Amino acid sequence: MKYARISQVAHYAPRQVITNDDLAEIMDTSDEWISSRTGIKKRHLAYDESTSDLATKVAEKLLTKADLSADELDFIIVATITPDSLMPSTAARVQANIGAKKAFAFDMTAACSGFVFALSMGEKLIASGTYQKGLIIGSETLSKVVDWTDRGTAVLFGDGAGGVLLESAQMQYFLAEKQGTDGSRGEKLTSGFLGLSSPFAQETPDQKYLAMDGRAIFDFAIRDVAQSISETIEASHLEVEDIDYFLLHQANERILNKMAKKLGVSRNKIPANMMEYGNTSAASIPILLSECVEQGIINLNGNQTILLSGFGGGLTWGTLIVTI
Ligand code: ACO
Repeated sequence: MKYARISQVAHYAPRQVITNDDLAEIMDTSDEWISSRTGIKKRHLAYDESTSDLATKVAEKLLTKADLSADELDFIIVATITPDSLMPSTAARVQANIGAKKAFAFDMTAACSGFVFALSMGEKLIASGTYQKGLIIGSETLSKVVDWTDRGTAVLFGDGAGGVLLESAQMQYFLAEKQGTDGSRGEKLTSGFLGLSSPFAQETPDQKYLAMDGRAIFDFAIRDVAQSISETIEASHLEVEDIDYFLLHQANERILNKMAKKLGVSRNKIPANMMEYGNTSAASIPILLSECVEQGIINLNGNQTILLSGFGGGLTWGTLIVTI
């Protein structure tokens, strides 16, 4: 039997920081409205870096921390809904940038669940016995798909990247998982429509901007995602109390408060950093994990149990319970 484990974590955010007050200067909003409804105080925005640049920074940090050469990597998966281009993929750009000659690389498109889906896939690649080492990175420049004239969405999102090094291991670190999709509710959260443009087609416009039904997403998170988290805990044969930390997608602090109540978990076990980064979609969970490790809340000594849960566009959701 082969196993995989998370052996390193890292994150990177663009240096430019935009506060709620900065936004209030360019649109009809206020720090009071944004922070009371979402918990968000600021966000990092890329001015001169692409999604692959952010992901490359994370990949380089992971290799340095692990004292690993890029040649030793077998695969690179980048979870993103804001790739530099559809082809080549962001992951292929990272592979070239770091010189990971042996690695195959591809992007995972599952919005805010992307990192969890990619981590689950990476674990299977290593558990197959065919591969030994891979990078799983969530990287986003959501600022390029946000409609900056729509205050209802523009204030929510930010740019950033985080990731982990996955390596083969001697014992089981991935304890349980549940992932799901409900495409029938896909229109509740959308972005990046490519219109038809051939001379033979009836032309349809591109609609790149992000649009969402905020209330529907809020309800989805509280009902469906909380339910799925409970089912994953049940499947792991652990009790809620056995889980040291719950690293949930950083969309909104009110969602975390409601989830804590619903799951019967103290908020102290649900760290948050959306106040600093906003919602960074596929990057939110690995950025949070990396910050928790930097702050010494989580260590990589194999003696803590954490739950990771992403949810968002698709609609998609995914929860993993791992020893870290
Ligand atoms: N500043 C000031 N006023 C605003 C702003 C803003 N930035 N945005 C909207 N408003 C106004 C609206 O125009 C509306 O005014 P009206 O009553 O005069 O019409 C009022 O505030 C209420 O607007 P709602 O959209 O109903 O606000 P709501 O209380 O639902 O809060 C929010 C919106 C925060 C987005 C909420 O629905 C929510 O938390 N949703 C969760 C979804 C989420 O976080 N999505 C992120 C992406 S999805 C994901 O990552 C899973």
